[in-house]
Order: sequence, then structure tokens, then C-alpha cells
Amino acid sequence: MSLDDVAGLTSGETILIHAAAGGVGGFAVQHAKHVGAKVYAPASAPNHDYVKSLGADIVIDYRNQDFTEIVKECDVVYETVGGEVPSRSETVLKPDGRLVYITRPPEEYSPRDDIEYLRPKVPRAAGHMAVISDLVAQGAVWAPEITELPLDQIKKAHELSATEHVRGKIVLVVR
Ligand SMILES: NC(=O)c1ccc[n+]([C@@H]2O[C@H](COP(=O)([O-])OP(=O)(O)OC[C@H]3O[C@@H](n4cnc5c(N)ncnc54)[C@H](OP(=O)(O)O)[C@@H]3O)[C@@H](O)[C@H]2O)c1
Repeated sequence: MSLDDVAGLTSGETILIHAAAGGVGGFAVQHAKHVGAKVYAPASAPNHDYVKSLGADIVIDYRNQDFTEIVKECDVVYETVGGEVPSRSETVLKPDGRLVYITRPPEEYSPRDDIEYLRPKVPRAAGHMAVISDLVAQGAVWAPEITELPLDQIKKAHELSATEHVRGKIVLVVR
């Protein structure tokens, strides 16, 4: 919902969605396409087909390509990685662009004064769930790739998550 309520993304705008193969980024790519935006999506090479299947227009191999060289005058960046990525992302935004971030900003930060910095609040909201449910029913968004693990493999699930390279989401199955 951060793309609607927070970023105010509209049809025809461009958006850069980091970690497009992740659980959050994967939904964001689908939703941005549904809105009618042009989507730039950094992902590692093994995830390119997956990210394209979610609707990304231009996939960037962030391990070998510098996204700041490829994305220019962007309307919105959806930042989900942290580290140096937020400050590098600022440079691809046009004046009045919006940087939406869900990670912690770096300690040393020199914000641009001509762009908006937006951090979504994520309350439990029935209204949001209803909108998401409608989007799923329309086929506009669908669940990302799911890795199922039984509850007794919770340690493995944490280790996988800590790699920061899970595609989609991990679901623990309780029987
Ligand atoms: N504030 C909130 O409410 C909230 C809610 C949920 C999540 N989060 C945060 O949002 C972030 C994303 O969460 P998540 O669950 O979607 O996924 P995640 O498990 O943190 O991210 C997995 C994905 O990140 C990609 N990735 C890793 N480094 C990257 C880089 N430098 N550039 C581009 N992609 C990169 C990986 O793709 P490759 O394998 O292709 O590299 C992988 O598919 C996390 O930091 C999480 O803590 C915040």
C-alpha cells in the first residue's frame, strides 16, 4: 500500500524498486505495473526471469551494473536494501521525486532538499487488507514465490532469511 498511500504513484511515472526479487519488492513490482508505472528492478542474474514474470520493464543486474548509470530522472524510488543504497538512489530522482524507504537510513546522510523522503507506517489495517484482497481477486497481484519449511526447521528458515537473498517469502508450516 505504500505505493498508493505514501508514494502516490500514478500511471506513466517511473519507479525504481530495489530487491525486486524479495517478498516486499516482488509485490511492489506487480502493484506498480498494475498502477501503470514503468518499473526498473535491480536483481541478481538468476532472478531476472522471475522479476520479469512479475512485470518489471527493465531488470538491472546490480552485481555487474550500476543502477545510477541506467536510471535517470526517476519519479519514485522504493528502497528496501539499506546501506549505501538510499544515498545512491537519491541521485536517480528528478527534482520533486519521492524516495520511499522501509529500511533504516544510514547514520551519515546528506539529504537533497528538492526531493521528498517518505517512510511508510505499516499499521494493521483491515482497509488495506480489503484492497489487497481485491487486487488478488482481480489477478493484479499474486503471492510471490514461497519456500515452505516445517516449523521444526525454523533455524534453517532464519539462516536462509539472514542471507538476504531469499526469492519471495519463507512460510513456516504448522501441522
Ligand atoms: N518497515 C517495514 O514495515 C518492513 C516490512 C517488511 C520488510 N521490511 C524490510 O524490507 C527489506 C526487504 O524485505 P524482504 O522480506 O522483501 O526481503 P529480503 O529477504 O530482505 O530481501 C531479499 C531480496 O533482496 C535482494 N537483494 C539483496 N541485496 C540486494 C541489492 N543490493 N540490490 C538489489 N536487491 C538485493 C535479493 O535478490 P538477489 O538474490 O537477486 O540479490 C533477494 O531476493 C528488509 O530489509 C526488511 O527488513 C521492512
